[in-house]
Amino acid sequence: MIRSKILSTGMYVPPKILKNADLSAFMDTSDEWIKQRTGIEQRHWVEVGTTTSDLALEASLAAISNAGIKKEELDMIILATLSPDHEFPGTACFLQKKLQVPLIPALDVRQQCTGFIYGLSIADQFIRTGTYKKILVVGAEVHSAGLEKSTSGREVTVLFGDGAGAVVLGATEVTELKSDSYLYSTHLHADGTYAEELWTPSGTGMKEKDRMTIKQIENGAIWPKMNGKAVFVHAVKRMPEVLIEALEKNELKIEDIDLFVFHQANLRIIDMIAKQFNIPEEKIFNTIQKYANTTAATIPIGLDEAVRAGKLKKGMLVASAAFGSGFTWASAIYRW
Ligand code: UT7
Repeated sequence: MIRSKILSTGMYVPPKILKNADLSAFMDTSDEWIKQRTGIEQRHWVEVGTTTSDLALEASLAAISNAGIKKEELDMIILATLSPDHEFPGTACFLQKKLQVPLIPALDVRQQCTGFIYGLSIADQFIRTGTYKKILVVGAEVHSAGLEKSTSGREVTVLFGDGAGAVVLGATEVTELKSDSYLYSTHLHADGTYAEELWTPSGTGMKEKDRMTIKQIENGAIWPKMNGKAVFVHAVKRMPEVLIEALEKNELKIEDIDLFVFHQANLRIIDMIAKQFNIPEEKIFNTIQKYANTTAATIPIGLDEAVRAGKLKKGMLVASAAFGSGFTWASAIYRW
């Protein structure tokens, strides 16, 4: 039976680090507030001029090299981001140009924090059907260029960091369903009823004459807006729900999972999930303290760091779940 398997991981974050205290230079905030409410201690932000596809390229090259394949072996590129290089064409096309692998399909996924699992799921369908054998799945974000760096934007701005993570998903012949390494299942959801709870109000399709107006800049419609409490409440409901859905589908119990690599928007959300399921601390791999919320990049960055830290080893059963803007939420279970 043909299934897909994560062959390798890679990640990249830009070198510049901003500690929580560094943000106080341009907004009324504090290290104490950010750490206490979110668990975040620092984030990486790009220098002006570095784009999402630049970060994606570095993470992709690492994943391709770690897979021991040539980039020409790729059958498809899927890139998840909420911070595209341009409104169009898709950032996957810019990544393709930089990778120099023309002609294969290149697809953008716009599912925000859930984007990587959506991307993994799409890739999995192509591999299960035998259409493709090797697919690059990337999550990459340059948030820093799109954040309101003043006190009025502080609730959103302090949460986000720049970075990219990538995996190469490859076809594998599975004979032992309970012990072979492969992607067991993915579970995707969305509820657009809440699209305006975490969004950027301006953009194409606005009821304005032009795509971008001075008025939108002046009234701040170009910056992301978040109803933090609503997002929090839905996240702590939907992430456990979609995790249970994945466990039930695979007839697994929470104790069967060796490592949890969740999307991380706030350490308090992860702590609430851990408490609800009684998951021991050592089974959850967190990176939010160092990188903040890197949206679509969070899970692949977590996987790559976990591999390099020796926490994620062959044979381990892994679960991921994510929740974010849309609202969208998703989960995946895979044996490493
Ligand atoms: O991946 C994207 C998904 N996003 C999320 O999952 C985020 C979910 N939401 C959250 O994580 C939390 O709601 C936040 C961290 C965003 C906010 O935490 P909170 O405990 O809900 O704080 P709050 O909104 O109730 O704000 C408490 C106070 C307010 O001041 P007053 O009204 O009590 O005087 C805020 O104005 O904290 C103030 N505040 C800040 N103070 C310092 C808000 N942001 C900041 C800040 N620094 N950055």
